[in-house]
Amino acid sequence: MKLNIAVLAGDGIGPEISRAGVMVMQAVCSKFGHEATFVPALVGAAAIDATGNPFPDETYDICMAADAVLFSAVGDLRFDNNPQAKVRPEQGLLAMRKKLGLFANIRPVETFGCLLHKSPLRPELVEGADFICIRELTGGMYFGEKFESDDRAYDTCAYTRPEIERILRVAFGYARRRRRHLTVVDKANVLASSRLWRKIAQEMAPEYPDVTTDYMYVDNAAMRMIQEPRFFDVMVTENTFGDILTDEGSVITGSMGLLPSASTGENTPVFEPIHGSWPQAAGKDIANPVAQILSVAMLFDYFNLADEAAAVRQAVDASLDSFVRTPDIQVEGKEPYGTQAVGQWIANYISNH
Ligand code: IPM
Ligand code: MG
Repeated sequence: MKLNIAVLAGDGIGPEISRAGVMVMQAVCSKFGHEATFVPALVGAAAIDATGNPFPDETYDICMAADAVLFSAVGDLRFDNNPQAKVRPEQGLLAMRKKLGLFANIRPVETFGCLLHKSPLRPELVEGADFICIRELTGGMYFGEKFESDDRAYDTCAYTRPEIERILRVAFGYARRRRRHLTVVDKANVLASSRLWRKIAQEMAPEYPDVTTDYMYVDNAAMRMIQEPRFFDVMVTENTFGDILTDEGSVITGSMGLLPSASTGENTPVFEPIHGSWPQAAGKDIANPVAQILSVAMLFDYFNLADEAAAVRQAVDASLDSFVRTPDIQVEGKEPYGTQAVGQWIANYISNH
């Protein structure tokens, strides 16, 4: 297969983990006889510095022409500490999501047996937790009507029926292919937008009689996720709730540096780690590349290249088992590896197995 990949490395640790991701993807492609081309493009603070725009038109064109986007991270301290900034790196990510119509963000939360001790939760609670959060990505407060003055500001959480139906279809579909349990997370006891979500989900549920559908308020879901993470199979929720719950989900596994995601919808899909740009670590070769590398596995899944995806996951498992780990997940008494060294090890493992 020929794969044309847009590589949006972005800011902070982005370029380092991006290199590791590309290296792994190249190893898989040469092993399985695929031809991949990689086209770099600017996004985030890097793009603001070069062009004044966090998602330049040229980047949009490169994304639209690609089969998939391998995205890393955006965000920079210069902007974080300046609420007055007119343009922000994060706007690049939001513009990309909106312009590519990426309404479905798939965020799997999986635990690794050998890392259970890294979770702040008791190992017996976390063991075997394996769920997917499906986050609506182009609606809600992120994109609703906004107003900002010195004395008053608001963001609007608006959803239309087609927006809700299409994301729920994705979620029911995932539930069907997994353990057939869907949890619709909302705040229907307070929010009108949530009541519409719940109403539509209730209308659609009979079309999926093989799926057990339940409904949970978001505050309760936040609690249940850490009390009993194994309860969940597939959860679906609106944009802001999904943003918050997936950060919570990531700590269940022990490190934010482990979780990949896929954003899919109308145009080119994007594969990215769920973590941010960690500017403090930029250039230090200490960031964990595993989330980025597992995003490459999700990319292969998207193109129905199951063996290729499995090769990536096996190599990641082997690296963890062999203690080839960055400092965030290394055990005491073992020397931590750098970002590039972990990427190289995983790429070599794929080439040699
Ligand atoms: C995420 C991030 C982004 C979001 C930021 C960087 C805009 O937190 O992908 O979860 O809020 O969606
Ligand atoms: Mg987030």
